[in-house]
Amino acid sequence: MSIFATKSIEQIKAEAAASGEHSLKRVLGPLNLVTLGIGAIIGTGIFVLTGQAAAQYTGPAIVLSMVLAGFASALAGLCYSEFAATVPIAGSAYTYGYATLGEFIAWVIGWDLILEYALGAATVAVGWSGHLTSFLHDFLGISIPPAFAAAPCTLINTAGCSPDAIINLPAVLITAAVTVLIVIGIKESANVNTAIVLVKVAVVVIVILGGAAYINTANWHPFIPENTGRFGEYGWSGVLRGAGVIFFAYIGFDAVSVAAQEAKNPQKDMPIGILGSLVVCTIFYILVSGVMVGLVPYKQMLGQAAPMVVAIRAAEAASGGSSLLHMMTMLVELGAIAGLSSVMVVMMMAQPRIFYSMANDGLLPPFAKKIHPRFRTPHITSIITGVAVALAAGFTPIGALGELVSIGTLLAFVIVSIGVIFLRYQRPELERPFKTPLVPFVPALSALVSFALMAGLPGETWLRLVVWMAIGFVIYFGYGYSHSEVRRRDTALEAAGGTRRR
Ligand code: ALA
Repeated sequence: MSIFATKSIEQIKAEAAASGEHSLKRVLGPLNLVTLGIGAIIGTGIFVLTGQAAAQYTGPAIVLSMVLAGFASALAGLCYSEFAATVPIAGSAYTYGYATLGEFIAWVIGWDLILEYALGAATVAVGWSGHLTSFLHDFLGISIPPAFAAAPCTLINTAGCSPDAIINLPAVLITAAVTVLIVIGIKESANVNTAIVLVKVAVVVIVILGGAAYINTANWHPFIPENTGRFGEYGWSGVLRGAGVIFFAYIGFDAVSVAAQEAKNPQKDMPIGILGSLVVCTIFYILVSGVMVGLVPYKQMLGQAAPMVVAIRAAEAASGGSSLLHMMTMLVELGAIAGLSSVMVVMMMAQPRIFYSMANDGLLPPFAKKIHPRFRTPHITSIITGVAVALAAGFTPIGALGELVSIGTLLAFVIVSIGVIFLRYQRPELERPFKTPLVPFVPALSALVSFALMAGLPGETWLRLVVWMAIGFVIYFGYGYSHSEVRRRDTALEAAGGTRRR
């Protein structure tokens, strides 16, 4: 049997229905889904990576990078929405891949999504740690020893690399806490998430409105700093690289699609959840990044664990100690602490559900599809995810993590976009409650723009992606290939057909 065997949409839907009492609970409505999306989207990307990308790659033109990355996400969101409405099953892009491009590509996507969700959660944990450390220091006078607040040899302050750093302990602890939450169950997690999203949105609005009054327009000039002569360092190539880096900030809308099996009315509500959350966040991001680079000369945000806080503090100093700005610093720190944990919840909730789908198909061992009898969550994979995230967050620098997450997610987007075109030609009759407009133009453009953002990322990020995928191939051909349910079933059918013929 071919490694490109596909699973029919009918089969996918029947399996979901047949999983009966072991299936996940359908509890999420459209507002829950938009909230879930915003909860997953606004996070370390805007609070940390935006400032770092502005400092290193774009200058004030970070605003253009935001527009470009938002455009790429919107295109991919349109493609995701068609799939999420047509195949409303847990597993996200992995399941879409299985239905259209075949098992091997599905594995590639599923493996790749570990970068997005598990490594994404690790990146956010590091951002969370930066804000906790800064809050404890600024407002409670407590200093976490640098050796326990950063991964080995990480830029932890303007003094540069700290070779003495041992582990990012706050990042490990928040990961442990989130793991407990997701093992307990999605309903509880979704409620906590809603409350936190409200806080996070409030913080972003306050920064936009409060910060706008203190913008020094001189900081916006030159808007696109001259390129240094090296690709990706300012100038237009910097805008492209910046877009690839801060693309991280938009990741999350696709996590909505992972909750399809837990949505009450997935066909109608998935596109609302995906596109709704994306539109809201794009508007916020363009405004917030513009304010940030207006408050402080962009280079001052270099290597900072909490650049948004740095921007507001600089404005506070320039204003002669405005108490409004002082309060804003505290709000941003608290909002980030609460807000980033909600991103982790969504990402870490998504990861075990993808493992669950892969194990159901036989591509991962059966323990990965075990559902807890009382909590009805995939508890074993949730714990495995928690341990992996904690290790990555405790020992890896945020820049390397974030770029790898971006490139991995962009790759998934390229494949999903192409998948939409495939499915239109393969199964034109399929009921599609939401249709991507202007097929094949929109999906083709989506694949192209996502690939362009990948192309802007540094060579070492590409190398890490290649290594990661190579490990995935070894696991697929070592285990999944011989255990695949689809191929085993097809082989059995073929054998039975052969017997009858004789
Ligand atoms: N978009 C999410 C964030 O910025 C992943 O943290």
